Order: sequence, then C-alpha cells, then structure tokens
Amino acid sequence: MPRLHVNIDHVATLRQARLSQEPDPVLAAGICELAGANGITVHLREDRRHIQDRDVRILKETVKTLLNLEMAWTEEMLDFALELKPDQICVVPEKREELTTEGGLDVARYEQSLTEEMDRLHSAGIEVSIFVDPNPDAIECAARSGADFVELHTGSYANARGQNRENELKRLETAANYAHELGLRVNAGHGLDYENVLPIAQLPWVEELNIGYAILCRSIYSGLDQAVREMQDRILAAAPPDQE
Ligand code: PXP
Repeated sequence: MPRLHVNIDHVATLRQARLSQEPDPVLAAGICELAGANGITVHLREDRRHIQDRDVRILKETVKTLLNLEMAWTEEMLDFALELKPDQICVVPEKREELTTEGGLDVARYEQSLTEEMDRLHSAGIEVSIFVDPNPDAIECAARSGADFVELHTGSYANARGQNRENELKRLETAANYAHELGLRVNAGHGLDYENVLPIAQLPWVEELNIGYAILCRSIYSGLDQAVREMQDRILAAAPPDQE
C-alpha cells in the first residue's frame, strides 16, 4: 500500500494571491503530518508563483517525515537542491504558461546531464525521482540515468473516462512493472482525487502517491486534517485484508 505525500503548493498559491503571510505552508505541512501524511511535497517553480525559497528552507528544518522537492532540471534548481539537501527531489518539466505540470519530463533530452549529476545528488543524501509519462522509452532513460525512482504521471488516467480510463490504468500498470524490472522504484501522482485514487493505490510496486489539489480543495470545506485523513482512508482501502 503506497504512502501518502501531500503536495502543499496551493496553500502557498492562496498566500501569494495577497502577497501576505497566510496561509503558511509550513503550518499546513505540520497539520498534514499530524493527520498521518507520510511526506510533504513542494514544487519550487522558477517563477516562484506559489512556494518560495523561504518555505523550502523552513520545511527542511521542520518536516519530520520526508521532504520531496519538485524542481525543473536547471542549474539554479540543482544548486538549490544540493545546498538544501531535501530527502528526495522529483525532476519535472516546467513551462511558464502552464497552470500545472502538463506532462512527464523529456528524459532523453536530459539523460546525459542527469547521469552526470546523479552521484553528486546521491552523495548529498538526496534520492532522485523523475516524473515520466507511462511510456517505456522514458522509463528506460530514467533507469540509465541512475535515478532511484520514476514518478508515473497519472494525469491522463485522471482525465479519462470509461474504457479510456481503463486503458490508461493498464498503461500505468505496464509502466510500473517495467520500471520495477529495470530496477527503478515507483511513485505516482497528478490529478488524483478521492474518487480515482483506489485503482492507483492498488497498482504493483507503487510506493508513494503525491497528491495536492484534491486534498487542498477538500480542506476548504472540511479542514486540512480531515481532508488528509479521508485520503489516507481511501489509500488504506487498497491494502489486502491481512495488511490492514
Ligand atoms: N506529482 C507531480 C510531479 C506534480 O507536478 C504534481 C503537481 O504539482 C503532483 C504530483 C500533484 O498533482 P495534484 O495537485 O493534481 O494532486
């Protein structure tokens, strides 16, 4: 059964709407952890549209579970990660005009530099995950780069309906099996919510789910603590009866 990592970017989105101090993602991270989150994920974007450097620096000191930093593969972000040493980074593609991360990384394009920097990241105690679409080429590049994990992009699955959703689920299952075969560990995320998370939590080899938007939306109605607990309950339902 996968662990739940809560992406708290949108706490910062709300704060940045007024360029004020509230709500504070650092406080939100603590509430998520108290509610049972197994990790905290933040995306420090190049345009700093939500999470700020200050947030990540304080979270590094306060997060007791695991801090996962999503970042573009740029020199600036690499230097930041090597200095800060989060537990894990997830390398994602980034476009200024996008509302959210639209697709997996073009791993072939960055394979050489990822491979070159992998030892430095590992020596700094940082586990490396690469956000990929569930296709074999991307997974092979990630494996060759020496990354620890791939995070499978679940956005197409989340957006699909009916038979298309079943097909997307099958693609994710095939991708998870292939990644495992190549020695990679497997995470998943994007677009997951209370209705669609169960089949993803039941996929083979998936260790961590990164979920943000759905939890933050629900927290507006029911509070962040309750929203995290409800998501944990959904994921728990994926456990075989003897593991509960
Ligand atoms: N995983 C990655 C790599 C992401 O970029 C995002 C969005 O920031 C998520 C997971 C979480 O997606 P959502 O907010 O749709 O749950």
